[in-house]
Formats: sequence, structure tokens, C-alpha cells
Amino acid sequence: MMRSHYCGLIGQAEAGQRVTLCGWADARRDHGGVVFIDLRDHEGIMQVVADPERADVFAIASKTGYEDCLSVTGTVRVRSNINEKIPTGRFEVVAESIELLNAARDLPFALHENPNEEMRLKYRYLDLRRPQMQRLIRTRIKLVQALRRWLDARGFQDIETPILANATPEGARDYLVPSRVHPGQFYALPQSPQQFKQILMIAGFDRYYQIARCFRDEDLRADRQPEFTQLDMEFAFVEEQDVQDCVEALIREVFRAVGGIEFPDPFPRLTWVEAMTRYGSDKPDLRFELELADVADALKHLEFKVFAGPANDPDGRVAALRVPGGQELSRKQLDDLAAHAAKFGATGLAWLKVEDTAKGLAGVNSPVAKFLDEAALAAILSRTGAHNGDALLFGAGKWKTVSEFMGAVRLKVARDRGLVTASWKPLWVTDFPMFEYDEGEQRYYALHHPFTAPKVDDAAALKADPAHAVSRGYDMVLNGYEVGGGSIRIHRPDMQSAVFGLLGIGEDEARAKFGFLLDALKRGAPPHGGIAFGIDRLAMLLGGTDAIRDVIAFPKTTSAQDLMTDSPSPIDAKQLAELHIQVRDDEPGVAGPG
Ligand code: AMO
Ligand code: AMP
Repeated sequence: MMRSHYCGLIGQAEAGQRVTLCGWADARRDHGGVVFIDLRDHEGIMQVVADPERADVFAIASKTGYEDCLSVTGTVRVRSNINEKIPTGRFEVVAESIELLNAARDLPFALHENPNEEMRLKYRYLDLRRPQMQRLIRTRIKLVQALRRWLDARGFQDIETPILANATPEGARDYLVPSRVHPGQFYALPQSPQQFKQILMIAGFDRYYQIARCFRDEDLRADRQPEFTQLDMEFAFVEEQDVQDCVEALIREVFRAVGGIEFPDPFPRLTWVEAMTRYGSDKPDLRFELELADVADALKHLEFKVFAGPANDPDGRVAALRVPGGQELSRKQLDDLAAHAAKFGATGLAWLKVEDTAKGLAGVNSPVAKFLDEAALAAILSRTGAHNGDALLFGAGKWKTVSEFMGAVRLKVARDRGLVTASWKPLWVTDFPMFEYDEGEQRYYALHHPFTAPKVDDAAALKADPAHAVSRGYDMVLNGYEVGGGSIRIHRPDMQSAVFGLLGIGEDEARAKFGFLLDALKRGAPPHGGIAFGIDRLAMLLGGTDAIRDVIAFPKTTSAQDLMTDSPSPIDAKQLAELHIQVRDDEPGVAGPG
């Protein structure tokens, strides 16, 4: 071993001892003839003192550069000026020898500054050296350890499933891998191990888990990566409550163990309709109170078409959001809110400032006040619980659109105005619609995935009214993030075929893609269900960061690139030929053949 101790673990027990430390020069200070080096390793920082009396040591210390890699041997002593800011701040090591193991040259950024994202990803080894990144990655490690510990102790079977397989649909595009030995044929990287884990239940494994890498070619955001990791779980012979109770206990225990965080027992529950109605989101952030209020019934009789139209439309919605103290919102702030709403499909965002509730219409200030009457205003004020000094924001239009843009406005108002007070708000969202209808394409999509069971037990009943079918799916939501999603599965082939049919997957296509599953369902498949958690998202929340990239050692950019290794990259003609692939040379950014 090159070292005797870790910098960050030096304590009273080592005082007076001779130690050898290895690490990086985090800082160097020259103080009236004495040189101090903060030596940093995986565990923390130790101050190293180089005295001019030892000329050789002093010479090396004086020349030490930022991030040089060093080995230091010396004696631990108690510092005269204690540094309370670091755990090892009571001690220092008086250097007897310093060896420069490797110099650091041409640093692209200083680790103590806030490097930009691109530099951080390109020089990830330097970014990861930073203590906050070490902390985040280690939080993730502790999370995975705690998950495994809990699951292993309860008899869950950890089984690996293929990465090279056929498409596993979860609503994104597939990453494809060309086959060399089967010209023109492709593997698809799994979007999740969904079908394999169902097969494992049919195979009698009863309770499965896997820390599984998943691949999805979709639009990336702060909480989404093209490859990410799930804690994937499946149970045989269960209903919703069994799965939920089990994983709720797991998540509660893990947050306690890793973060010292206490969650409520049980988690609150909202149906999808409630969540959309009250919070305008299927993953509501409950860390603040603001709720949407429905006011359509009080506005039906108005001449004002913007409100009366949706108020009289069975698929319409007019929702109001109270902004506490919102009277102070400037014109610009209101315009910004409207622009934000527009990104989520709003055609406008009417506002009303409440000056004096006792004065009715004379006590409000709003561009739409002239379209209201006293009865409508009174209903709005009471429904929203408005106080003097508040503002109200209104969304009108189709139910789903209004819910979504008002949900987005709700989040922005809470963030802008610092209304987020509570720290941890987990909940379950249940009773999702089975399908979502795409007006443009005139077809249904699965809201979860095509293997989710409907609440109705009968395929004919499902086919009779798919638009109103409710699924046996459930999501776990934490602080506005969907951290887990699962369902009870279809375990009968007739129901599975019916759902494929409703999704526009014809019999031939269903056989070609999912024949193995349909066949397996015919052979004594047990009722089963499960869930998958986004480990990256859990780690992100536990670590207190809002960027998923911070808890992945080697993440990709929002355009799915790895800036360090420069991936993806063109491949040479020989490899392409072996794979029977010809790249069109009219595509920008790809190397043509030859
Ligand atoms: P779902 O698609 O809801 O369900 O995924 C489960 C969880 O995985 C996380 N997640 C992601 N995290 C980072 N980047 C992404 N691109 C990404 N996509 C999803 C989320 C999500 O809640 N097979 C089903 C599970 C089941 O039914 O058992 C599935 O994959 O936290
Ligand atoms: P307009 O009739 O489009 O000029 O809009 C009159 C007022 O209604 C403006 O204050 C708009 O911001 C508001 N408004 C327009 N469309 C909507 C909508 N879909 N939801 C809420 N307010 C709207």
C-alpha cells in the first residue's frame, strides 16, 4: 500500500503518529516562509505543513501546483489555529517527505470555481474529483446498497435479463444494434426488462428484482437520460395493494437509512383525476398548498366566449389559481407567466388582482373584469378563497390542456415566490386512464405500457368503452418527480390481444413482436404485477440536486452525447460493411462509406 491513512480520516487517534497520505493538492498557501498544502483524497482534506528547515521538502512544496498528485509522509499534530469548517480541521501533518507522483498540467478549469456543464462533462475525471460530486456519487452507491440489502433479506431473486433483445415498448424510440451474422436484422436495447420479468413470474420465480440498465431514445430533460437505471421488480400472485405496501416500506427504509429522512406511513394517495383536477399534474408536487379551483359552473352564462365556451363544453375546463400576495405581480411577471402557460398549450392566461373583496367588481383590477358580473365574481372569490392583495390566474379551454398548463403555472408561481416549504412529499397516484387518444393520429396510446391490466376484467367491456377505461397502474411521486411506475399486468391472452388490438397492433404484428408473451400467457401464467423505480431520480432527490447528470458518473448531454469519449462517432467502412450497413452520405454529421 502506498498510503497508511486517508486524509479525511485522520483524528485524535493518529495524533503524534507518522503517516503516509496520498492525494491531490487542493490548495497551496505560502505563509511567511511556511508552505501549507491541503491534500485531498476520497475521504476528505488534511493540511500538510512544509517547514523551510527541511529544504528538500520545502522546495517541492513551494512548487506544488493545483491538482498535482502527491504522496506525503509526516507526523500528525494538533493545529494551533483550528479550522472548524472541515472535520479534520484540528490536525495537520508536518511533512518529512513529499513525493510528486504526477504533476497536473493545463487544467481546463479550477475545481473550486463553478465550471460550465460542457467542461464538466468533457473533463469528467476532474469534475468527479470535486467533493460535491464525490458526495453525490457515493449517495447513489449507498442507495443501491440499501436497496439490495432490503430486497435480498426478503427473498427477492436478483436475475439478469438480456440487453441484446427485441423491442420492449415503453413509449420511446428504440436504440438498435445491427446483427453481423443476420444481415439486415437488429437487436433493440431494452427500454425496460418488462416482458422478461413477466416471463420470470410465469416461470415461477415469485419475486424478482434487478438493478437494470434501460435505454430510451427520447427527448431529454433535466430528469431524463437516454440510458438510465431502474430498480425493476415483479411479484406473482399479488394485487395493487400488495405491491404498493411492499415498495412503500422499501422506499421508507431506504430514505431513512441513506438520508435520515422520515416519510409518512402510509403515503397519501390521489387518483389521476384528483391529481389533475387539484394540481394540474399526474406527478403533483405537494410541498406547497396551492390548488386549482374549478369555476366553470359560475361562468356559463357570461357573454365572454373565452370563459363561457369551455364552461359549457363537457370536455372543457375553467380553472383558477390563487397567487397569495399576487397583487404585487408586475405586468412583465404576468406576461412571463402567460408565456410559460403558452409553452404548455395555453392560448391565454387571464388575471385578476383582488384589492378589496368587500367591494365586488369595484374592488378588483383585471382586463377581464368587464366581462364578469357580481355573481360570477363572488363565486370565483369564494371558490378560490381569495384575500385582499391576492391575484387570481385563469385557464380556460379543453380539460386536459387547461389542467396541464395551469399545473405548469402552479409550479412556476411556487418556485418564483418561494412557496415551497415542506421538504419531502411522497404520494401514490392511481387510477390512470388506460389509453390516451391522439387526435392527430386518430388512435389510442397506452398511458403506461401495453401490458398494464384494465380495471374491467372483461375484454368485451374494455373494447366497448376504451376511452373511459381505467388501468390498474400506479406511480410513486416524490416532490413533483415520478420516481416509480408500475401496474398489475394482464395475465390472460384474450385480454392482452384485446389491448394490442385497441392500440392498433394487428394480430400479425402482435404475433411477430409479442408471440412469445401471448403463448406464455396461455400456459398457466399467474396473476402478477410490479413496479420500477428510477434509481437516478431517487439518487438525485436524496442527494439534493435537480440534475440527474450529477448522480451518473458518465452521463450524456441533452443531445445524447458523451463529451468525454466523443460518442456517438462515425465508424469505419470495414465495420459498416461487416454489419451490412450503408450510411447515406447526404446525412449531415455522418461519415460516408469509404
Ligand atoms: P416507467 O416507464 O414508468 O415504467 O419507468 C419507471 C421509472 O423509471 C424512471 N425513468 C427514467 N429515469 C431517467 N431517465 C429516463 N429517460 C427515464 N424513464 C423512466 C422513472 C420512472 O418512474 N416497465 C415499467 C415498470 C413496470 O410497469 O413495472 C417501466 O419501465 O423514475
Ligand atoms: P382575447 O379575447 O383573446 O383578447 O382574451 C381576453 C383575455 O382572456 C385576455 O386577458 C387573455 O389573456 C385571456 N385569455 C384568452 N384565452 C384564454 C384562455 N384559454 N385561458 C385563460 N385566459 C384566456
